Amino acid sequence: MSELKIDTRLWSSKARNLSPYVPGEQPKHDNLCKLNTNENPFPPSPKVGEAIAKVLEQQASDLRLYPAPESDDLRGALAKIYDLDTSQVFVGNGSDEVLALVFASFFLKERPLLAPDISYSFYPVYAQTFGVHLVKIPLEEDFSIDPDAYRQPCSGIIIANPNAPTGLLLSLADIRKLASEHTNAVIVIDEAYIDFAMTKEGDKETQVSAVSLINEYDNILVTQTFSKSRSLAGLRVGMAFGSASLIEALTRMKNSFNSFPLDKLAQAGATASVLDTDYFEQMREQVIDLRQSLTAELTTLDYNVLPSHANFVFARPKEGNASAVASALREQGIIVRHFNKPRINEYLRITVGTAEQNQRLITALKALEANAEVATI
Ligand SMILES: Cc1ncc(COP(=O)(O)O)c(C=O)c1O
Repeated sequence: MSELKIDTRLWSSKARNLSPYVPGEQPKHDNLCKLNTNENPFPPSPKVGEAIAKVLEQQASDLRLYPAPESDDLRGALAKIYDLDTSQVFVGNGSDEVLALVFASFFLKERPLLAPDISYSFYPVYAQTFGVHLVKIPLEEDFSIDPDAYRQPCSGIIIANPNAPTGLLLSLADIRKLASEHTNAVIVIDEAYIDFAMTKEGDKETQVSAVSLINEYDNILVTQTFSKSRSLAGLRVGMAFGSASLIEALTRMKNSFNSFPLDKLAQAGATASVLDTDYFEQMREQVIDLRQSLTAELTTLDYNVLPSHANFVFARPKEGNASAVASALREQGIIVRHFNKPRINEYLRITVGTAEQNQRLITALKALEANAEVATI
């Protein structure tokens, strides 16, 4: 096929100057071990397929009608599990869309938006798209977040928690501190991976979602997604939780852009997923267990693995040759993510796979190490 020639003369300068986000690749080879985009290795609840089939089979003619614009059933189901009012819940086409609406709703002000220098790489893209002034606050040497570093006037703060790609968790105490020190700013906690995060006190494990703070702090907005812990990246459903006033701003923005972001199938499938709490708990625990065994195996291979609270690990091979390791793995059909960026270019972000996938990765890494030893003899 000849190369497509793009003529940009009719484009607006805005379109010309964008630097779009580049998602992790989705290759379609057989026998690929895909550990690069933090999808869940397990299928979604069987109830999801049943609910979607019901819409298709029994109510096919309903597809000629528009879906519920405010996704009331889904928002109601989410409100119930978090013990919130439906007015405190917003849903959108993936949390990426929810985040885009967040940028447009809250951060277009003279005061800057603050975000960690190493975080989800879509934030700078949204900042550029919406003309938001983004100031990056460096993570500490150990990649942790120091809330005191955020003490400056701002329109908002956005933090992925657990952070991506490090997997490190910010405590609820630190989130409280940010919210109370910035009462005239919106504190957005992007909890794409929070369902895999727990803290341990003695034998007791507790969950750490900032959703538990939103009745106390009307400036905290929490975003989450169905893409990771609910195995529904392909359905595109994300949500936000916050005060009714913050949610109303998002709803106004949505209805000035696309009134129907969630189709009927997505609404039905996502609602069924929320209602199947047993399946959700089972899958979440399985991924957490697999993360722990993957961390242990990588540590045995002398990788420096950051303590992950997500469904991926961020790990540095002992030689720091992450890029070479990623290329060698790729030759064997194993894809992990390498970011060629300052401070993190010696690390690999590896999605937690099934036990078999993790084993394939570890076996490949052991073979690489053995070959390297042979080469240096
Ligand atoms: C930190 C973070 N936030 C948001 C998203 C977007 O998730 P989605 O649009 O699939 O809901 C991702 C996806 O990888 C992510 O890593």
